[in-house]
Order: sequence, then C-alpha cells, then structure tokens
Amino acid sequence: MTTVLNDSPFVRACRGLDVPHTPVWFMRQAGRSLPEYRKIREGIGMLDSCRRPDLVTEITLQPVRRHNVDAAILFSDIVVPIAAAGIDLDIVPGTGPVVAEPVRTPAGIERLRQITPDDVGFVAESVRLLVKELGGTPLIGFAGAPFTLASYLIEGGPSRTYLKTKAMMYGEPALWNALLSRLADITLTFLRTQIDAGVSAVQLFDSWAGALSEADYREHVLPHSSRVLAGLAGAGVPRIHFGVGTAVLLEAMGEAGADVVGVDWRTPLDRATKVIGPSKAVQGNLDPAVLFAGREVVEREARRVLEQGRAAPGHVFNLGHGVMPETDPDALTRLVAFVHETSAR
Ligand code: CP3
Repeated sequence: MTTVLNDSPFVRACRGLDVPHTPVWFMRQAGRSLPEYRKIREGIGMLDSCRRPDLVTEITLQPVRRHNVDAAILFSDIVVPIAAAGIDLDIVPGTGPVVAEPVRTPAGIERLRQITPDDVGFVAESVRLLVKELGGTPLIGFAGAPFTLASYLIEGGPSRTYLKTKAMMYGEPALWNALLSRLADITLTFLRTQIDAGVSAVQLFDSWAGALSEADYREHVLPHSSRVLAGLAGAGVPRIHFGVGTAVLLEAMGEAGADVVGVDWRTPLDRATKVIGPSKAVQGNLDPAVLFAGREVVEREARRVLEQGRAAPGHVFNLGHGVMPETDPDALTRLVAFVHETSAR
C-alpha cells in the first residue's frame, strides 16, 4: 500500500517539480494560536495528548480545516520518542521539555534505550487515522535531530548558552558520539514508523544547531544527522531539514542529505539557494513576527519571500520558525489564500 501523495503540490515542490501554486504550511500550525486547540487541551498534559490518537487526529486536523494549508503536520513533540525510550521527562507549559535526570554519563546513555516501533505504536495509529481523514492533503511526520535532542537531555531543559552540551561535545567526544549515535538510532526508528504508517514527507528539526560554528557542526553533528537522513533515502518520501539561526550552516545542512532545506527568516531564500546549490528545494521563510504588523506588511513580505523562493528548483512557503501563540489565526488563513493567489500559474 502506498499512501505518499506524489501528485500533491507540496510533495511536488519538495521534489523540485512544477506546481499549480506554491504550497504553504506553517511550523506549529497546530497549537496555541487556535482557540479550538486551547479548548480541547484543557486539563490534558502535552505528553498525554500526544499519546492519544483521537486527540492527535483532531488537533492535527484543526489548522487544515481552518487555514486550507497544503500539508498537515502530525501533532506530537520532538521529545516523544525520548520518553518512549525510558527517559523521565515532562513538557512544562511556557517552558518546554524538562528532563528529571539529565544525561551526562555512560550510565545515563544506558537509560536511553533503543526503541522499537511498538514503543511508539500510538504514533503509527495516529498516522493511520490521519491519512484516512486527510484524503488528498499530505501528512508530514517529524523528529528532532540528534543535536537538538541531546541539548535537552544534557541541559535537562531549554538553554540559551548550551554550556553543558558544548562542554560534553568539546571535552568528552567519545561520550558525545555515543549519545548522538543512540539518538540517531531512536530517530531513525521513529521516522521509519511514521513512514510505514503513511506520512508523505518527514521533517528533521535541528532547531538549535544555530548555536554552533560551521566547523563544530561538521565535526560533531553532521555525521549523526547524515546517518538519519541517509537511512531514509530509499523510503520514497521527501526529507526536509530545518534549523534556526543557520546562516553559516546552510551549506553543511544541505550536505547532510535532505531533499529540502528549511531556512529561517534571517537568510533570503535566493541567497540560501546559492549556498545550498541547485539540486535542493527550500522551505520558508516569513518572519513569524511579520504577522503582527498588519495585512499590507504581511502581503508585501510574503510577495518578497515568493519572489526570492523562485531562485530554488522548488519552494514550500512557510514561516522562518513556528507560529507564535499570540498570532491572530485569521492572519494565517489570509496568508494562505494570498500565497495561493499570488503564486498561481
Ligand atoms: O503544528 C506543529 O508544528 C506540530 C506540533 C509540534 C509541536 N512541537 C507541538 C508543541 C512540533 C513539530 C514540535 C516540535 C518541537 N518541539 C521542536 C522543533 C520545532 C521548533 O519549534 O523548533 C522543539 C524545539 C520542541 C520542544 C518544545 N516543545 C518546545 C520548545 C515547546 C514550547 C514550550 C512552550 O510552552 O512555549 C514545546 C511544547 C509544545 N510542543 C507545544 C506544542 C503545541 C506547546 C505546549 C502546549 O500547547 O501546552
């Protein structure tokens, strides 16, 4: 059974094929910007909601119904497979993932066991339900990349400086590589489970890789992300790779092996394409803050992003990072319609 929606504008743009209009979806489109999301989540913890296929299905569909986006993204979180691997953690509202006992020793890595598809059976079940409900709209699966996951495990929570993460990376390379290698194995299983259940594309989020220099990224991170992306090469779905603050990393992130490179709002897409090369599509990259500046500004900036995106063989319109919780959902709905109209060919 193949469920990959190869003819959808989203999958075609990922592959650099011609499209009837530039496809658009938003990172964090399912979430707190939507009143119907805040309502359904009342009294239910984030991780608990990720483990309930009925809730995952409803929350994933909410932005598709509302905004007419060209793709859905599975409602989950990057730490879901880490919790399934045996790490005691919680997602704290307003803070993010918090790990009870940070992982900083060989014994810590032992606690992080490799997962089997059964450990994340609720994710496979959610994907199967969603593929049925979504019809012609492709579903994007995702995972956190080894570096971004390691930063939560080593710091014990979100960080601004990544001091403990970098201390291990520079000072204990064997331990570092063992941890990132285990995380790459978990991530591969997690993504393969989603692909087997029917997602049409996957996105590997290395959200915090922008904390690194290019040399350090190449030496300590790229080999592990490459192994994940290479492991999915024959799976028949486009692979998207995204990070924030990655202007100096775009060339290396492209080399990591994805089909599409996600670009934050700091780097214009035409410049990004020059660096990444003509064989990959790009995704992005309207500044999420522009949505707070009024309709004319949104349209002017969206037009600029569309024009700069034409430099690449394929362009998936998105924000340069996730939707801010305070965003007016109607501004997102209007933006989708504007992108579709303006890019129609
Ligand atoms: O719509 C979508 O994009 C799908 C859902 C999604 C969530 N998390 C839901 C979520 C996705 C793709 C993620 C990935 C994720 N999680 C990343 C990578 C993407 C990025 O933003 O760079 C990261 C770094 C995390 C870790 C994480 N989880 C953070 C930083 C937070 C926010 C903390 C906060 O409260 O501000 C979370 C929690 C989280 N994940 C929420 C949602 C909707 C908010 C929790 C809630 O609604 O109660």
